[in-house]
Amino acid sequence: MKILAIETSCDESAVSIVEAEGERKKLNFKICAQLISSQAALHSQWGGVVPSLAKREHAKNLVPLLEEILLKARLGHYEPGPKQKDHLTVELAAQLRAQLEREPELLERLLQFLPTIKKPKLDAIAVTQGPGLEPALWVGINFAKALSLIWNLPLIPVNHLEGHLAAVLLGRTKIAFPALALIISGGHTELVLVKDWLDYTPLGATRDDAVGEAFDKVARILSLPYPGGPAISKLAIHGSLNPDYQLPRPMLKSDNYDFSFSGLKTAVLYLVKKLETETSGGLTNIQRADIARQFQQAVIEVLLLKVAKAIEQFQPRTIIVGGGVAANEELRRQFTEGLTKKYPAISLRLPDSSLATDNATMIATAGYLHWLSGNIPSLDRADGNLRLA
Ligand code: KG4
Ligand code: ZN
Repeated sequence: MKILAIETSCDESAVSIVEAEGERKKLNFKICAQLISSQAALHSQWGGVVPSLAKREHAKNLVPLLEEILLKARLGHYEPGPKQKDHLTVELAAQLRAQLEREPELLERLLQFLPTIKKPKLDAIAVTQGPGLEPALWVGINFAKALSLIWNLPLIPVNHLEGHLAAVLLGRTKIAFPALALIISGGHTELVLVKDWLDYTPLGATRDDAVGEAFDKVARILSLPYPGGPAISKLAIHGSLNPDYQLPRPMLKSDNYDFSFSGLKTAVLYLVKKLETETSGGLTNIQRADIARQFQQAVIEVLLLKVAKAIEQFQPRTIIVGGGVAANEELRRQFTEGLTKKYPAISLRLPDSSLATDNATMIATAGYLHWLSGNIPSLDRADGNLRLA
């Protein structure tokens, strides 16, 4: 089946068309086309994502993205003539107006665009329901609902975190369960036992900042641009593990699977302040690079050790790592080296770096897993705090 997926949980407006086939034991996915419109440059001037701005941008972006992706996937036909308009009847247009009452920009753009194409050959629409920024989520959901109405297609609500896990299915699709999953993104840090797809037992989570959030905040302390993760990892390449800048490894010895990264961020802040008073000025580039390297190393070590501890207790057959921070090259290297050496029988599954950060392909993939389960809940609202259950 061909799934159109829509992702608007944060500051990326993303759409994807994925062709999915097979049963749970034998899946197959092909990306027909995918597009991501990042708002990072817009939000960077505020040092982080502003929900109302994100909402406005999604409303502006979605219809042009739809137009482009239908063309890319060769599903958009522009043959003029009255027949082409048959999927937007007068009654449907009236229903659309009622449904998008609170999304005037989307409505206007859709009313202009839809009559210019034929109904595309799609089988379902998957959309992120949460977690994320609710105003941003709502735009994607309203958009998906509008298309589902006009094209009479089933709507599959998807948990964004599940999408981050399902991103590893693009590539090798066979996963041996049980799996242990580590989700490390801008909003979440969670360790989860996955008995099978859609069967999750949370083991631990961050008690304060998420890993990606810590990267973003430390980047600000080091005067690096938003998003901080890519900026820190680039700078850290030039740094060394200077023992003078040793940082704490929070909750390493705690008797649970929880994390805490806000103390680590504060430790960086104090270190930077101390160095600034000592030198009575700004840090040198070498100092900043060394601190970036030490911060990144502290994060990787904590994550790796907690995963190793959970491996000992739960004996998983697969480790899945997902979320934006999984794009970090040094983390990928140390996880691959550390885990495959110590646990050669366990398979480590990292998403392709381009699919680690937010995208809609992962939403289509997770949507298909739900489709196969035959249990598709109705989508009545965005849920900013949606959990993996
Ligand atoms: O999964 P994601 O795209 O969005 C959320 O669901 O939150 O994750 C975004 C987070 C940001 O905090 C960003 O700084 C971080 O992932 N990130 C990275 C890297 N690329 C993105 N962190 C460390 N190293 C990277 N290369
Ligand atoms: Zn994400």
